[in-house]
Amino acid sequence: MYQSRIAGLGMYVPENVVTNEDLTKVMETSHDWIVERTGIHERRHIEKGDGNTTAIMGVKAAKTAIERAEINKDDIDLILFATLSPDYYFPGSGVLVQEALEIENCPAMDIRNQCSGFIYALSTADQFIKTGMYNNILVIGSENHSGGLEMSTRGRGVSVIFGDGAGAAILIRSDDSSRGILSTHLHAQGEFAEELSLIGPSTNRWVPEIIAANDPEDTSYYPYMNGQLVFKNAVVRFSEVIMEGLKQNELTQDQIDLLVPHQANLRISQFIQKKFGLTDDQVYNNIQRYGNTTAGSIPIALTEAWQEGKVQPGDLVVLAAFGSGFTWGSAIIRW
Ligand code: ACO
Repeated sequence: MYQSRIAGLGMYVPENVVTNEDLTKVMETSHDWIVERTGIHERRHIEKGDGNTTAIMGVKAAKTAIERAEINKDDIDLILFATLSPDYYFPGSGVLVQEALEIENCPAMDIRNQCSGFIYALSTADQFIKTGMYNNILVIGSENHSGGLEMSTRGRGVSVIFGDGAGAAILIRSDDSSRGILSTHLHAQGEFAEELSLIGPSTNRWVPEIIAANDPEDTSYYPYMNGQLVFKNAVVRFSEVIMEGLKQNELTQDQIDLLVPHQANLRISQFIQKKFGLTDDQVYNNIQRYGNTTAGSIPIALTEAWQEGKVQPGDLVVLAAFGSGFTWGSAIIRW
């Protein structure tokens, strides 16, 4: 078996900063309400004309990751693109990245696991490298939420939380078995599929059907979230899946150097931090500045943590996510 390790990280967020104060101009909300419930101060939204799409943001993050990994883009064997907000209904955004990076004929696959998307993609990449099939894999998590949110008082329970942005990682094959991705752990519970979802437009609710209904009360084409149910499940599943990863590697929670949780909500991260007895320095959070960027959140946070020198060779780094599906997962990494 081969080992895989992260050789380069990159991120990109649109320039347009949307503060909580900005949101009060389009909906009944307040800076204090948002900060108290979510920890978020501001997020980035794509602006019309800035040239960004889900794929383009992914490309920008990928270029940095490729440069830092010191590989040639033509050596990429596979592109994995995690998103819930692809550029098109079909094809997926991975092929758009392949085209933009001008990589000839490498396979590209989209991963549709929402907040857990990056962990699912990382795990998939890890398997392809461990089995010897591929040497270099580009893993991207990117979201363009802003255009699809209901920016009004009716949609405020969801729309204040989400932001746009992308992160990317290059996974490479390594001969050093003491470093790299030690294990990944994935789970799903489809009975809660609709508790955090966007139901239409879809094959379940085609566009002509939505148009024909012409119903101003129809919110099926906006994201829906049962916030309290998500919160209750998130804190349990985050804890379980981190413990599962530690146990499999015969590690204990006091050996964690850095936990990078999916940036769902600062209150969820703080709950996990307390449960695992970690200090502020041992849990990386940047939801304050970017909101919840779903599949983008872990690679963005990991990139910033690395840029700030918080990830050093030999460190035990734990990634964990929970979200729509419900799906959840963790990755245990010896950096
Ligand atoms: N500004 C002001 N008031 C608001 C807002 C807002 N943005 N949103 C909702 N409210 C109001 C509601 O209308 C409601 O008013 P009412 O009591 O008059 O009916 C009141 O605030 C309470 O609403 P709840 O939805 O019950 O608010 P809650 O306390 O549950 O907080 C929140 C909502 C923050 C989403 C919470 O449920 C939560 O933290 N959930 C965890 C889920 C989460 O963070 N998901 C992130 C994305 S999913 C993921 O990544 C896993």
